[in-house]
Amino acid sequence: MSTSTPVDWTELAPQLVDAARQDQAWHLTIARELVTPDDRLAVDVGCGAAGMALAIARMITCGRVVAVDARPAVLHAASDHIRAEWSDPRVCIEPLRADIPTETAILRETLGAPADLVWASTAVHHVRDQQAAVTALASLLAPGGRLALAEGGLPEHHLPWDVGLGQPGLEVRLNAAQDRWFTQMRAELPDSRRMPYGWTQALRRAGLSP
Ligand SMILES: C[S@@+](CC[C@H](N)C(=O)[O-])C[C@H]1O[C@@H](n2cnc3c(N)ncnc32)[C@H](O)[C@@H]1O
Repeated sequence: MSTSTPVDWTELAPQLVDAARQDQAWHLTIARELVTPDDRLAVDVGCGAAGMALAIARMITCGRVVAVDARPAVLHAASDHIRAEWSDPRVCIEPLRADIPTETAILRETLGAPADLVWASTAVHHVRDQQAAVTALASLLAPGGRLALAEGGLPEHHLPWDVGLGQPGLEVRLNAAQDRWFTQMRAELPDSRRMPYGWTQALRRAGLSP
């Protein structure tokens, strides 16, 4: 049984490909920070169209990047994207279908070795039990390995309070709408479990240090 979201990822697969293309520069900037010269095995969990898997592969000198997603249609889109973008034989990018955390054992077995780097971007918040997902991701790591989560935090502010059109406070209303969507999305996950603490604490509870 899948523990992930009622969001229809199959329908959203083409959008994930667009997002991966648009985020290419950002992915490369982050991958440059995260990858170390000795890294040989990296995992991108909830990879969408594998944009970050590709960016990590570009920073690794030789080894494997495993691009993991729970949804076959998303993984299909990721495989096409990888085929179109990647040909360097020194680094292999392998798409793999697995649900986190329920299929972590299968994932670990397929990896065959502990990972130097695990990346998960905006995927964990779609899992019924987010702490279980973070703990599962941490369990994939080699000693000294790094888990990097890209998740939401405090709202960003870009606009002036009065943008000169309509009622002032547009950005406050947009953030409130986002908050309502998020609350409903979490509530609609079957057996959704609350995590009444932040990501740093979740990482600590998974046995990691900052
Ligand atoms: C918002 S998308 C993010 C995609 C990509 N990481 C990015 O940042 O563009 C969330 C992805 O997580 C995947 N996903 C959701 N629940 C999952 C689970 N339990 N295990 C593995 N992947 C999951 C979805 O299929 C989707 O591709």
